[in-house]
Amino acid sequence: MPQATSLPGTTDRRIAALLTLLAENATIVISGARIAREIGVSRSTVWRWAQRLRELGVRVKGQQRTGYFLEEIPDILTPDLLRKRMKGSLFGKHLYHFFKTDSTNRVAMELGYAGEPEGAVVLAEEQTSGRGRSGRRWHSERGAGIYATLLLRPNLSPVLAPLLTMLAGLSSRATIHAQTGLNVELKWPNDLMLGGAKLGGILTEMHAEPNQVRFVVIGLGINVNQQKFPTDIAGLATSLRKESGKAHSRLEMLVRLLTQFESDYNRFLHEGPSYVVERFQRESDFTQGKRVKVESGKGTYLGKTDGLSPEGMLRVMKDDGQTVTVIAGDVTEVR
Ligand code: BTN
Repeated sequence: MPQATSLPGTTDRRIAALLTLLAENATIVISGARIAREIGVSRSTVWRWAQRLRELGVRVKGQQRTGYFLEEIPDILTPDLLRKRMKGSLFGKHLYHFFKTDSTNRVAMELGYAGEPEGAVVLAEEQTSGRGRSGRRWHSERGAGIYATLLLRPNLSPVLAPLLTMLAGLSSRATIHAQTGLNVELKWPNDLMLGGAKLGGILTEMHAEPNQVRFVVIGLGINVNQQKFPTDIAGLATSLRKESGKAHSRLEMLVRLLTQFESDYNRFLHEGPSYVVERFQRESDFTQGKRVKVESGKGTYLGKTDGLSPEGMLRVMKDDGQTVTVIAGDVTEVR
């Protein structure tokens, strides 16, 4: 199994081990000597790493002489904790965690080109250049959202790859409902909405031959515990915390999401496109009878959504009565 540390910038396995040790013994003071022994480093290294964790926002109390403890269990997506929860799962084997990276999609694409196997997951606590659709940026505040990218190698034609975006939306919707009771609205093809504001999005990128996908990366961004957003997106974005009035465990949500996606992905591989297309039509009000504006390379037009094609493309009945299939482009609801 490739070592997560072989990738520049990933969280050092031993820092992760320190965090796990502290988290598993939360509020209990553990001596520096014991930590040093268990992790296999010197006591001064333990001290330096405790400092580093504090800089990353983890509330480590204590010092070399007295020992260390966590004032509060941090909601950090450490691979050790995740691996334990994801035993036997496709997504529990190759986990790459960053406290900070530019974009988990960028990292996952690199892993894909380097031959990393299906099921690798790239996670970040913070992204400095999170990628959104149409070249937009994805605001990725430290420790507040889920920023995760999954690497897949399906035996699939590239024209069907967008179905994976829709599938990830369906899995996210099911996960959010199970954990919070909230009903996410799915806006074709990749938006997760709550009360008309954006809660999350999915960005799929791929490397493919004309008839065969080589690999696909599915980037999931979910706003979980943000309390405020930058002014330019403040009116457009929301988080589960803002909608439900309470904080949610990102770790718990990620475990559920990966488990849900694995089962949905297997069904898609066995049952084919109709599984995704039919389920999406059932679960997304947006696909039927919504008045929309479509902005594509070919121009802008108004119409009404009219279901999905068998490949999962959106059908729109234009105001002139002609039905078109939207392959790419921005579709917004107009009221
Ligand atoms: C959108 O514009 O709706 C898609 C947003 C996708 C954001 C996620 S966050 C994790 C992954 N890494 C990225 O750089 N982008 C995706």
